[in-house]
Amino acid sequence: MKYNFDKETNRFNTSSYKWDVKENELPMWVADMDFETSPAIVKGFKKRIDHGVFGYVALSDDFYNSYIYWFKKRHHFNIKKEWIIFSTGVIPTLSSAIRRVSEVANNIVIMTPVYNIFFNSILNNGRHVLTSPLIYKDGKYEIDFIDLEAKLALEETTVLILCNPHNPVGKIWSKDELDKIGKLCAKYNVTVISDEIHGDLTRTGLEYIPFASVSKLNAEISITCVAPTKAFNLAGIQTSAIIIPNPKLKHLVERGLNTDECAEPNVLAEIAPFLAYKESEDWLDELRLYLDENIREVNEFIKNQLPQIALIKCEATYLLWLDCSKITKDADKLQAYIRETTGLYLSSGSIYGKEGNTFLRMNIATTKARVIDGLKRLKKAIDSYKEN
Ligand SMILES: Cc1ncc(COP(=O)(O)O)c(C=O)c1O
Repeated sequence: MKYNFDKETNRFNTSSYKWDVKENELPMWVADMDFETSPAIVKGFKKRIDHGVFGYVALSDDFYNSYIYWFKKRHHFNIKKEWIIFSTGVIPTLSSAIRRVSEVANNIVIMTPVYNIFFNSILNNGRHVLTSPLIYKDGKYEIDFIDLEAKLALEETTVLILCNPHNPVGKIWSKDELDKIGKLCAKYNVTVISDEIHGDLTRTGLEYIPFASVSKLNAEISITCVAPTKAFNLAGIQTSAIIIPNPKLKHLVERGLNTDECAEPNVLAEIAPFLAYKESEDWLDELRLYLDENIREVNEFIKNQLPQIALIKCEATYLLWLDCSKITKDADKLQAYIRETTGLYLSSGSIYGKEGNTFLRMNIATTKARVIDGLKRLKKAIDSYKEN
């Protein structure tokens, strides 16, 4: 290994949202990583900072070419420069695009359990959350296409937000599934916003498929949100891109982002994609090996020491979805008990929709030593937990 992911970082007193906890607590909740980003990114940022002049920024060819290069090389998706828009983040895009491509009180469909902030983006903009729960059977998740079609067919439904790969269940959607979703959405005139922020964090040997790459139809009806921020641990830099092959749709979304003032990069946000995609590929592949190993560690531990918990197979992301239905009917209570008694801070599954009420989410993007510490704390809490 060229990179040392075992290096302990200390994130106290760095204004970290995740690490705003007591000294004895171990946060494994918010989706960022405890690792330093790739040395090439740090070097590139330092060089830019050393320049000392931080005026307004325009997007360079490097910015566009980095996305074009990466998506062709890693995801077999040929994107064109004129399809790409800069945005300060996936969630700003989501909220802004919702305001452009739907009307107040429209239905926006999400497949639950799903990333909690989708609910906020929909509700804060006065739209209606329409859930199409995933089918959970034998420890696996599937799309309920019958239910999905019924929801998409409703007159008031105008948008589907897809999470591809899916946070928190860790699923990579197949080409067939993405094709089917595209055909249904086109049939009912529904725009797809595909959040692909976790696309680079697949298990070694697995690949995710960009929704818009599947067919011309998918490309025509979709707004795809991508970013190097999850995979390269750059969330605080606030950089992302939107890929929209349909020129009319692109114009609409671009105007909206402009009005909402989230279309301007800062100096580091503009160079981050180049430093990540063009200079840090080997770092990402080593990171993925390290995450695979952490997941293997959790799997073994749970199998041997916490058989009451079922770990859902995680094909992508660094977020583990733990089925605790043998222990709790109320994940909020369990989550609070674990934190109070051991300091281990996990996410309660309930925030991802009611289908998550008996689940916990665990972020394992940290050193193996901390993962083991977290597992020991989890066991200690579960062994003494009694629900009343
Ligand atoms: C599925 C998903 N989308 C978006 C985000 C946040 O994106 P951004 O920081 O670019 O707004 C997260 C962060 O956890 C996420 O899991």
